[in-house]
Amino acid sequence: MQHRVAVVTGGNRGLGWEIVRQLAEKDICVVLAGRNREKGLMAAGEFERQELAVRYAELDVTSAASIQALGDFVEKTFGRCDILVNNAGIFPDVWEYSVDDPLGLHMPIDRARLAMETNAYAPLLLCELFIPLMKKNNYGRIVNMSSDLAQLTRLQDSSGKYLAYRMSKVALNMVTRVFAAETAGTNMLINSCTPGWCRTDMGGAGAPRTAGQGADTPVWLATLPDGGPTGGFFKDRQPIDW
Ligand SMILES: NC(=O)c1ccc[n+]([C@@H]2O[C@H](COP(=O)([O-])OP(=O)(O)OC[C@H]3O[C@@H](n4cnc5c(N)ncnc54)[C@H](OP(=O)(O)O)[C@@H]3O)[C@@H](O)[C@H]2O)c1
Repeated sequence: MQHRVAVVTGGNRGLGWEIVRQLAEKDICVVLAGRNREKGLMAAGEFERQELAVRYAELDVTSAASIQALGDFVEKTFGRCDILVNNAGIFPDVWEYSVDDPLGLHMPIDRARLAMETNAYAPLLLCELFIPLMKKNNYGRIVNMSSDLAQLTRLQDSSGKYLAYRMSKVALNMVTRVFAAETAGTNMLINSCTPGWCRTDMGGAGAPRTAGQGADTPVWLATLPDGGPTGGFFKDRQPIDW
C-alpha cells in the first residue's frame, strides 16, 4: 500500500508539532500546514533532517482561498488524503464574561467571531474539502481538536469563563457529529478529542501535561483501525460525555 497522507493544521508548534512528529514516526507522510511560511519551513526542515516524511504547506485557516489552495496542493502532490487533524486553534478570551460586569468588561464580539472562524468554520470547510478525496480510497480519519471546556455536562465547573473559546469548541463538536452521521457506514471515522491541559504556548507553563502526552489521543484517533468508533468525543483514548 502507498504511504498514508495526513494533513495537520497548525503543525508548526505546540500540540500540532507533536502530532506531526508522532504520525511521521508511524511512517505516515505528513503535510505540516501553517500560516507562517518561515516557521513552517523551519519546522518541516527539522523533521526532514530526521528523515521523516514531512512537507510544509501554507495555510491560514481563516481564509477560504488558502484552504482551497491547500486542497489543490494535496490533490496535485499526493492524489490522496487519508487523515485530517483539525488542530489549529486560538484561545481568544482575555476576560471572564458577565452580563452585568460593573467594569463593563464584556466579551469583545470580534474575538468571538475570530474564534468561530478559526476553531469551528475552518474545520468545517476542511472536512468538506477532504472528505470527497478520502471517499475515493474508501478510507478517512478526521480528528477535531476540541477541549474539556466544550463539555456541556461540565458547564457548572467554570460558568462565565472563556465564553468565546467554549462556543467555538462546542460548535466544532457539532461539526464532528454531523459529518460522522453523514458518513456513517463508510470507512470514514470522524471524532473529537480533548488533549487535556497541556504545556504549550496556549496551555502555559503551569499545565500538568506535556505536548507529547496531549498528542497521544489525537494520534490514536488518526490511526484507528477499520471498524473503529466514529462520532465520539475522547480523552485519554476513552469516550467522554459531550
Ligand atoms: N494546550 C492545551 O492545554 C489545550 C487544551 C485543550 C485543547 N487544545 C486545543 O489543541 C489545539 C492546539 O493547541 P496548542 O496548545 O498547541 O496551541 P498553540 O500552542 O497556541 O498553537 C496553536 C497553533 O494553531 C495555529 N493557528 C492559529 N490560528 C491559525 C490560523 N488562522 N491559520 C493557521 N494556523 C493557525 C498556530 O499557528 P501560528 O504559530 O502561526 O500562530 C499554532 O500552530 C487547539 O485547537 C487548542 O484549542 C489545547
